[in-house]
Amino acid sequence: MSKILIAYFSHSGTTRRAAETVQKAVGGKLYEIEPKNAYPASYNEVLAIAKKEKESEARPALKNDPVAEIKAADVVFVGYPLWWYDAPMIIYSFLESASFKGKRLIPFATSGGSGLSGSDEKIASIAKTKPEKAYLARFKTDDKELAAWAAEAIGK
Ligand SMILES: Cc1cc2nc3c(=O)[nH]c(=O)nc-3n(C[C@H](O)[C@H](O)[C@H](O)COP(=O)(O)O)c2cc1C
Repeated sequence: MSKILIAYFSHSGTTRRAAETVQKAVGGKLYEIEPKNAYPASYNEVLAIAKKEKESEARPALKNDPVAEIKAADVVFVGYPLWWYDAPMIIYSFLESASFKGKRLIPFATSGGSGLSGSDEKIASIAKTKPEKAYLARFKTDDKELAAWAAEAIGK
């Protein structure tokens, strides 16, 4: 049995709920990726901060060191909201904090309507893993579809 980690970042809860759905479908451990400095709840404020972070390819500091969690897993699902047509930069902080060699890294995302915009490929490139078929929930999460995708992704 492979050890599964479901790592996610969520600002307003949608991706957290999606991560919980994945966890229910495939088991494994939920792990929240949190920034050291929390983002403001205000949409406009976080929009401006995220834009700056994206433009500078920032690597915001993580609240917790994820190395042990990543090391212990064979399969890592990584969930995130689309932020400015990319994954939030904190996702790349997470990916660069440990080696993913020999592990599967499977992205899933939620968005307000835009596509993955290459974020899935960028994730594989930064983590140096083989690209995997990612899942995207646009506007709304279809729990059944998401659960079926996750089960298929791990061959369950
Ligand atoms: C800073 C920021 C940037 C966003 N950029 C995009 C975007 O480029 N495309 C899109 O479709 N939605 C965008 N959204 C909407 C979120 O991707 C969407 O609401 C997502 O489901 C939120 O997930 P969460 O509740 O887990 O934070 C953005 C939201 C925020 C806060």
